[in-house]
Amino acid sequence: MLTLAVDIGGGTIKVAAFGPKGERATETLSRPTPSPATPDSVCALVRDMAGTLPPFERVSVGFPGIVKRNVTINAPNLGNELWHRVPLGAELGRTLGHPIRVVNDVDLQGLGVVQGEGVELVLTLGTGMGAALFTEGVLVPNLELGHHPFRNGHTYEDLVRDTELKRIGKVEWTARVVSVLEQLEPIFNYDRLHLGGGNARNIAAQLPSNVRLFTLEEALRGAPKLWDD
Ligand code: BGC
Repeated sequence: MLTLAVDIGGGTIKVAAFGPKGERATETLSRPTPSPATPDSVCALVRDMAGTLPPFERVSVGFPGIVKRNVTINAPNLGNELWHRVPLGAELGRTLGHPIRVVNDVDLQGLGVVQGEGVELVLTLGTGMGAALFTEGVLVPNLELGHHPFRNGHTYEDLVRDTELKRIGKVEWTARVVSVLEQLEPIFNYDRLHLGGGNARNIAAQLPSNVRLFTLEEALRGAPKLWDD
């Protein structure tokens, strides 16, 4: 029983297959996200990528926006207007011909990295800033922390998104990331913070001992867990 994991990101779409306990069955394939990233172009690309993998039986999709019951509500970094109330689970499920579950991208990644004890916050730094909250391993879905106002009318995501890293450089961007963490720690009082996303590796500072870095490669192995119910 292989589960196909699909991560739809602002910059790339990645797919890989995993066995029931999260054992990796294939390499991760990565392709640039189509532009414009319409539901049709995204579904067609995922179909083509999945077609090159060994047979899988079910599909877990991480989507970069709010998702309720397999229907996307928005997608700030793909185009909110393109993804308002799109039944992605039904459409991609039909395209791939397998049962499918769609959740927020960081909710899915969190399933692969949390330890299941205490309060765990998962943050990703990439095209945008994603967040997921778990308590004793149970997810609070669709925590859109990145869009919370932080400073001078800017949200957390406005300050630490990928385009800001490129604009202001690693040193100033790291200082912003550290101040975001200093703000969140006394609010969530997490036991552990899991920090991922393509830019986590660009943090040029020593992080507190309750912060752990993770990679998408590692996080995707949580895809089969989306079916534990
Ligand atoms: C979206 C989140 C998403 C995050 C990372 C944010 O802009 O609002 O839903 O998890 O980007 O992709």
